[in-house]
Amino acid sequence: MNVDEYLTHRMTSLREETAQIKDPRVFDFSYVPEQPLPRDEAKPIIDALLKYAQTGVPQNLVVLGSRGCGKTLLLRYLQRLLRERLGLEILYANCRNHNTTFKLLAEILGSSLRGSSLQELYGRFERRFPGRTVVVLDEVDLISKKDPNKDILYFLSRADAGYMVVCLSNNPRLLSELDTSVRSSLQADPLYLRNYDARQVQEILTLRAAAGLHSWKEEDLAQIAALTVQRTNADVRVAIKTLFYAVTGEGTSIQENFDHAQRDITIDLVADLNDRNLLILRAVQRTRERFVKRVFQTYEQLSRQVGETSFSYVYFLNNLSYMQSVGLVMLIQTKVNRAYTSTVSLLFNEQVLETIYRLRFS
Ligand SMILES: Nc1ncnc2c1ncn2[C@@H]1O[C@H](COP(=O)(O)OP(=O)(O)OP(=O)(O)O)[C@@H](O)[C@H]1O
Ligand SMILES: [Mg+2]
Repeated sequence: MNVDEYLTHRMTSLREETAQIKDPRVFDFSYVPEQPLPRDEAKPIIDALLKYAQTGVPQNLVVLGSRGCGKTLLLRYLQRLLRERLGLEILYANCRNHNTTFKLLAEILGSSLRGSSLQELYGRFERRFPGRTVVVLDEVDLISKKDPNKDILYFLSRADAGYMVVCLSNNPRLLSELDTSVRSSLQADPLYLRNYDARQVQEILTLRAAAGLHSWKEEDLAQIAALTVQRTNADVRVAIKTLFYAVTGEGTSIQENFDHAQRDITIDLVADLNDRNLLILRAVQRTRERFVKRVFQTYEQLSRQVGETSFSYVYFLNNLSYMQSVGLVMLIQTKVNRAYTSTVSLLFNEQVLETIYRLRFS
């Protein structure tokens, strides 16, 4: 086939593949639907925001839940809704992209602030936002180790203006890992967003399909939802990506599209891990009998080899539990010689790890 023929052929098939799509934005993970699927756990969050809007008395919140369970979406949606309905100022910043107090404030203030001191930024923030203001800090556990006390939390919760802070995280230990003084000035109530069940995932997919597709088969959506709940921590991103592949005719079956979507999302997740967590996963892979203690020993050896200082055992366990919460590993209690011990297993394709590890460490 010559280039001209190939081009014509591809243009025709691409047109067919995308013909079903009415609005491609519904496949964008940052898309905020007009009406997200309602959930009961939103009520205490809405109540706290309303109370703050009406009385100015802040009740700081820490919203927890596993990857892809809808934390970011919920707060983004409430930001839009409460701004429109009540004129409440809700600021949003993601700590993955802005991982120190300085960078977060610079992002919110939206100008080049190089050369300013942190004190100056605090002053500017207070002048810019003298009234009731909610600050949503997404993925707050990703604030850098260079900012060990997460100063922004301290600043926001102590400021005279009485700001309200909402922290989002998929790390269930976020609160216990915070510095005691920060925790006590924050006085935050933890709220958990549960994982969706298969019916809810299917409803979310149906809403997306109705907004973005000309036609779809409800039984395909049911199958995608079932796989998502069985094979991931109900990570809705995997479901949405599977639907996208199904619509564009990527694979030959839902199962194949699901595998593809899951692989893509795992690659993003593993590639975003810090060096130490990547070393922990590598240690799991390299340890024959994957008892937690043995994996820790392998991890210490590997760290030495690549010249990284290793975590303490307790910190190592915290990181393992974090990786369990994002669905990369699973810890299983087993009985050995009448005592209980945990083994670790990897929940994703090891080839992904192999590739990313090599890129990072060799
Ligand atoms: N109730 C819902 N209605 C419609 N779409 C939803 C709902 N909940 C989640 N989604 C969609 O699922 C995807 C994942 O949600 P979101 O990004 O909010 O997860 P998250 O909890 O912030 O995950 P992470 O911990 O990785 O940041 C998004 O594309 C979002 O739009
Ligand atoms: Mg999020």
